[in-house]
This record gives sequence, structure tokens and C-alpha cells, in this order.
Amino acid sequence: MNKPLTPRFHGNGFIQVYMSPDVRLHIWSKDFPATRVQNARIHDHRFTFNSTVLIGTLRHEMFAVKTHHDGNADLWQQGTPGSKSSRLELIGPCLCSRIGATFYEAGTTYGYGNPGMFHDSSPDSDLAVTMMVKTSVVDGYRAQIVCLDQGSDIEHAFDNQPDEQDMREEVGRVMRLLI
Ligand SMILES: [Fe+2]
Repeated sequence: MNKPLTPRFHGNGFIQVYMSPDVRLHIWSKDFPATRVQNARIHDHRFTFNSTVLIGTLRHEMFAVKTHHDGNADLWQQGTPGSKSSRLELIGPCLCSRIGATFYEAGTTYGYGNPGMFHDSSPDSDLAVTMMVKTSVVDGYRAQIVCLDQGSDIEHAFDNQPDEQDMREEVGRVMRLLI
């Protein structure tokens, strides 16, 4: 974990600030667009969480995913935690279909997560801010990621980091909006 309050950028398009090991502030800002270019945004988690939207509107899309030899996407998983390589590993082809979407507005709290619960979150406003609290963890599970561009190598979520000072200024701007 980064030390508390150090922002880092997730390639799916949000600044992440750890308030504690189990509590994160997520900021989707139009000034920090997503950098992952391989359509590798759909994922599951090894934990469940509750998330409260503090600013803006969040688009939450849900997907059904299963491995299949004639799939329409590639399924990857996180590397073994603590191993020398924490890079992503290809599982193989999968079928991925969109189940639907829910739009969560400021003041709303929703719960999601757990292995096999695939989703993608993106802002439906110039700025969207959430506070996410982990509620349980499945030890040993390695989170999975769907890449819609079959045959592409996907980059790690944190490979491309913007200037840290720029992120700190954006976090400060959001904090001032919240108080
Ligand atoms: Fe997620």
C-alpha cells in the first residue's frame, strides 16, 4: 500500500487516495483521463466494498464473464501477490456480455465486489468522487481483468503515473469542494 494520503493514478481513469488500508477516495476528473488503451477496464475484485458517491454521478456497468475457447475477449488475472512478478497473467479467451448499468448520484451508497462480479465504473459528470470502504476480502483470490482487444498485452493499472504534484492539487481542489 502507498503511504496514507499519497495519490496514485489508476489507468482506468481515477486518482486513488488511501485514507486507511480499507478506505479509499476515488476521483474521476476530466483533467486525468483514462490511460489504458487496450479496452482492459472490466474487472472483478477479491474484496467486497461499499462506495458512497460524494460528488457527481458514477456510471456502474456490470458484466457476465466466463472462460470459453471461442470467446470474444481475453481474461487476465493479477500476478501472485508478493511474488517477484506481480504482473498480469493471461488466463485465456472468455465470453463477456454486458448485463446492464446503474447510475449512482451524489449521496448514494452502493455495495459490490467479490470474485466473479465483473464491473466497470466511469464518471457521468465532469467530476465524480467516491469514498470506498472494503467490507470483506477473499484471501488468495487473484482479481481478473477482461481485455476486449484480444491478443493485446495489457499494461498494469499503475504503469502510467501523472505528475504527483498535479494529482495533489486536484485532490486539494476536491477536498475544498467537500468541506
Ligand atoms: Fe472495481
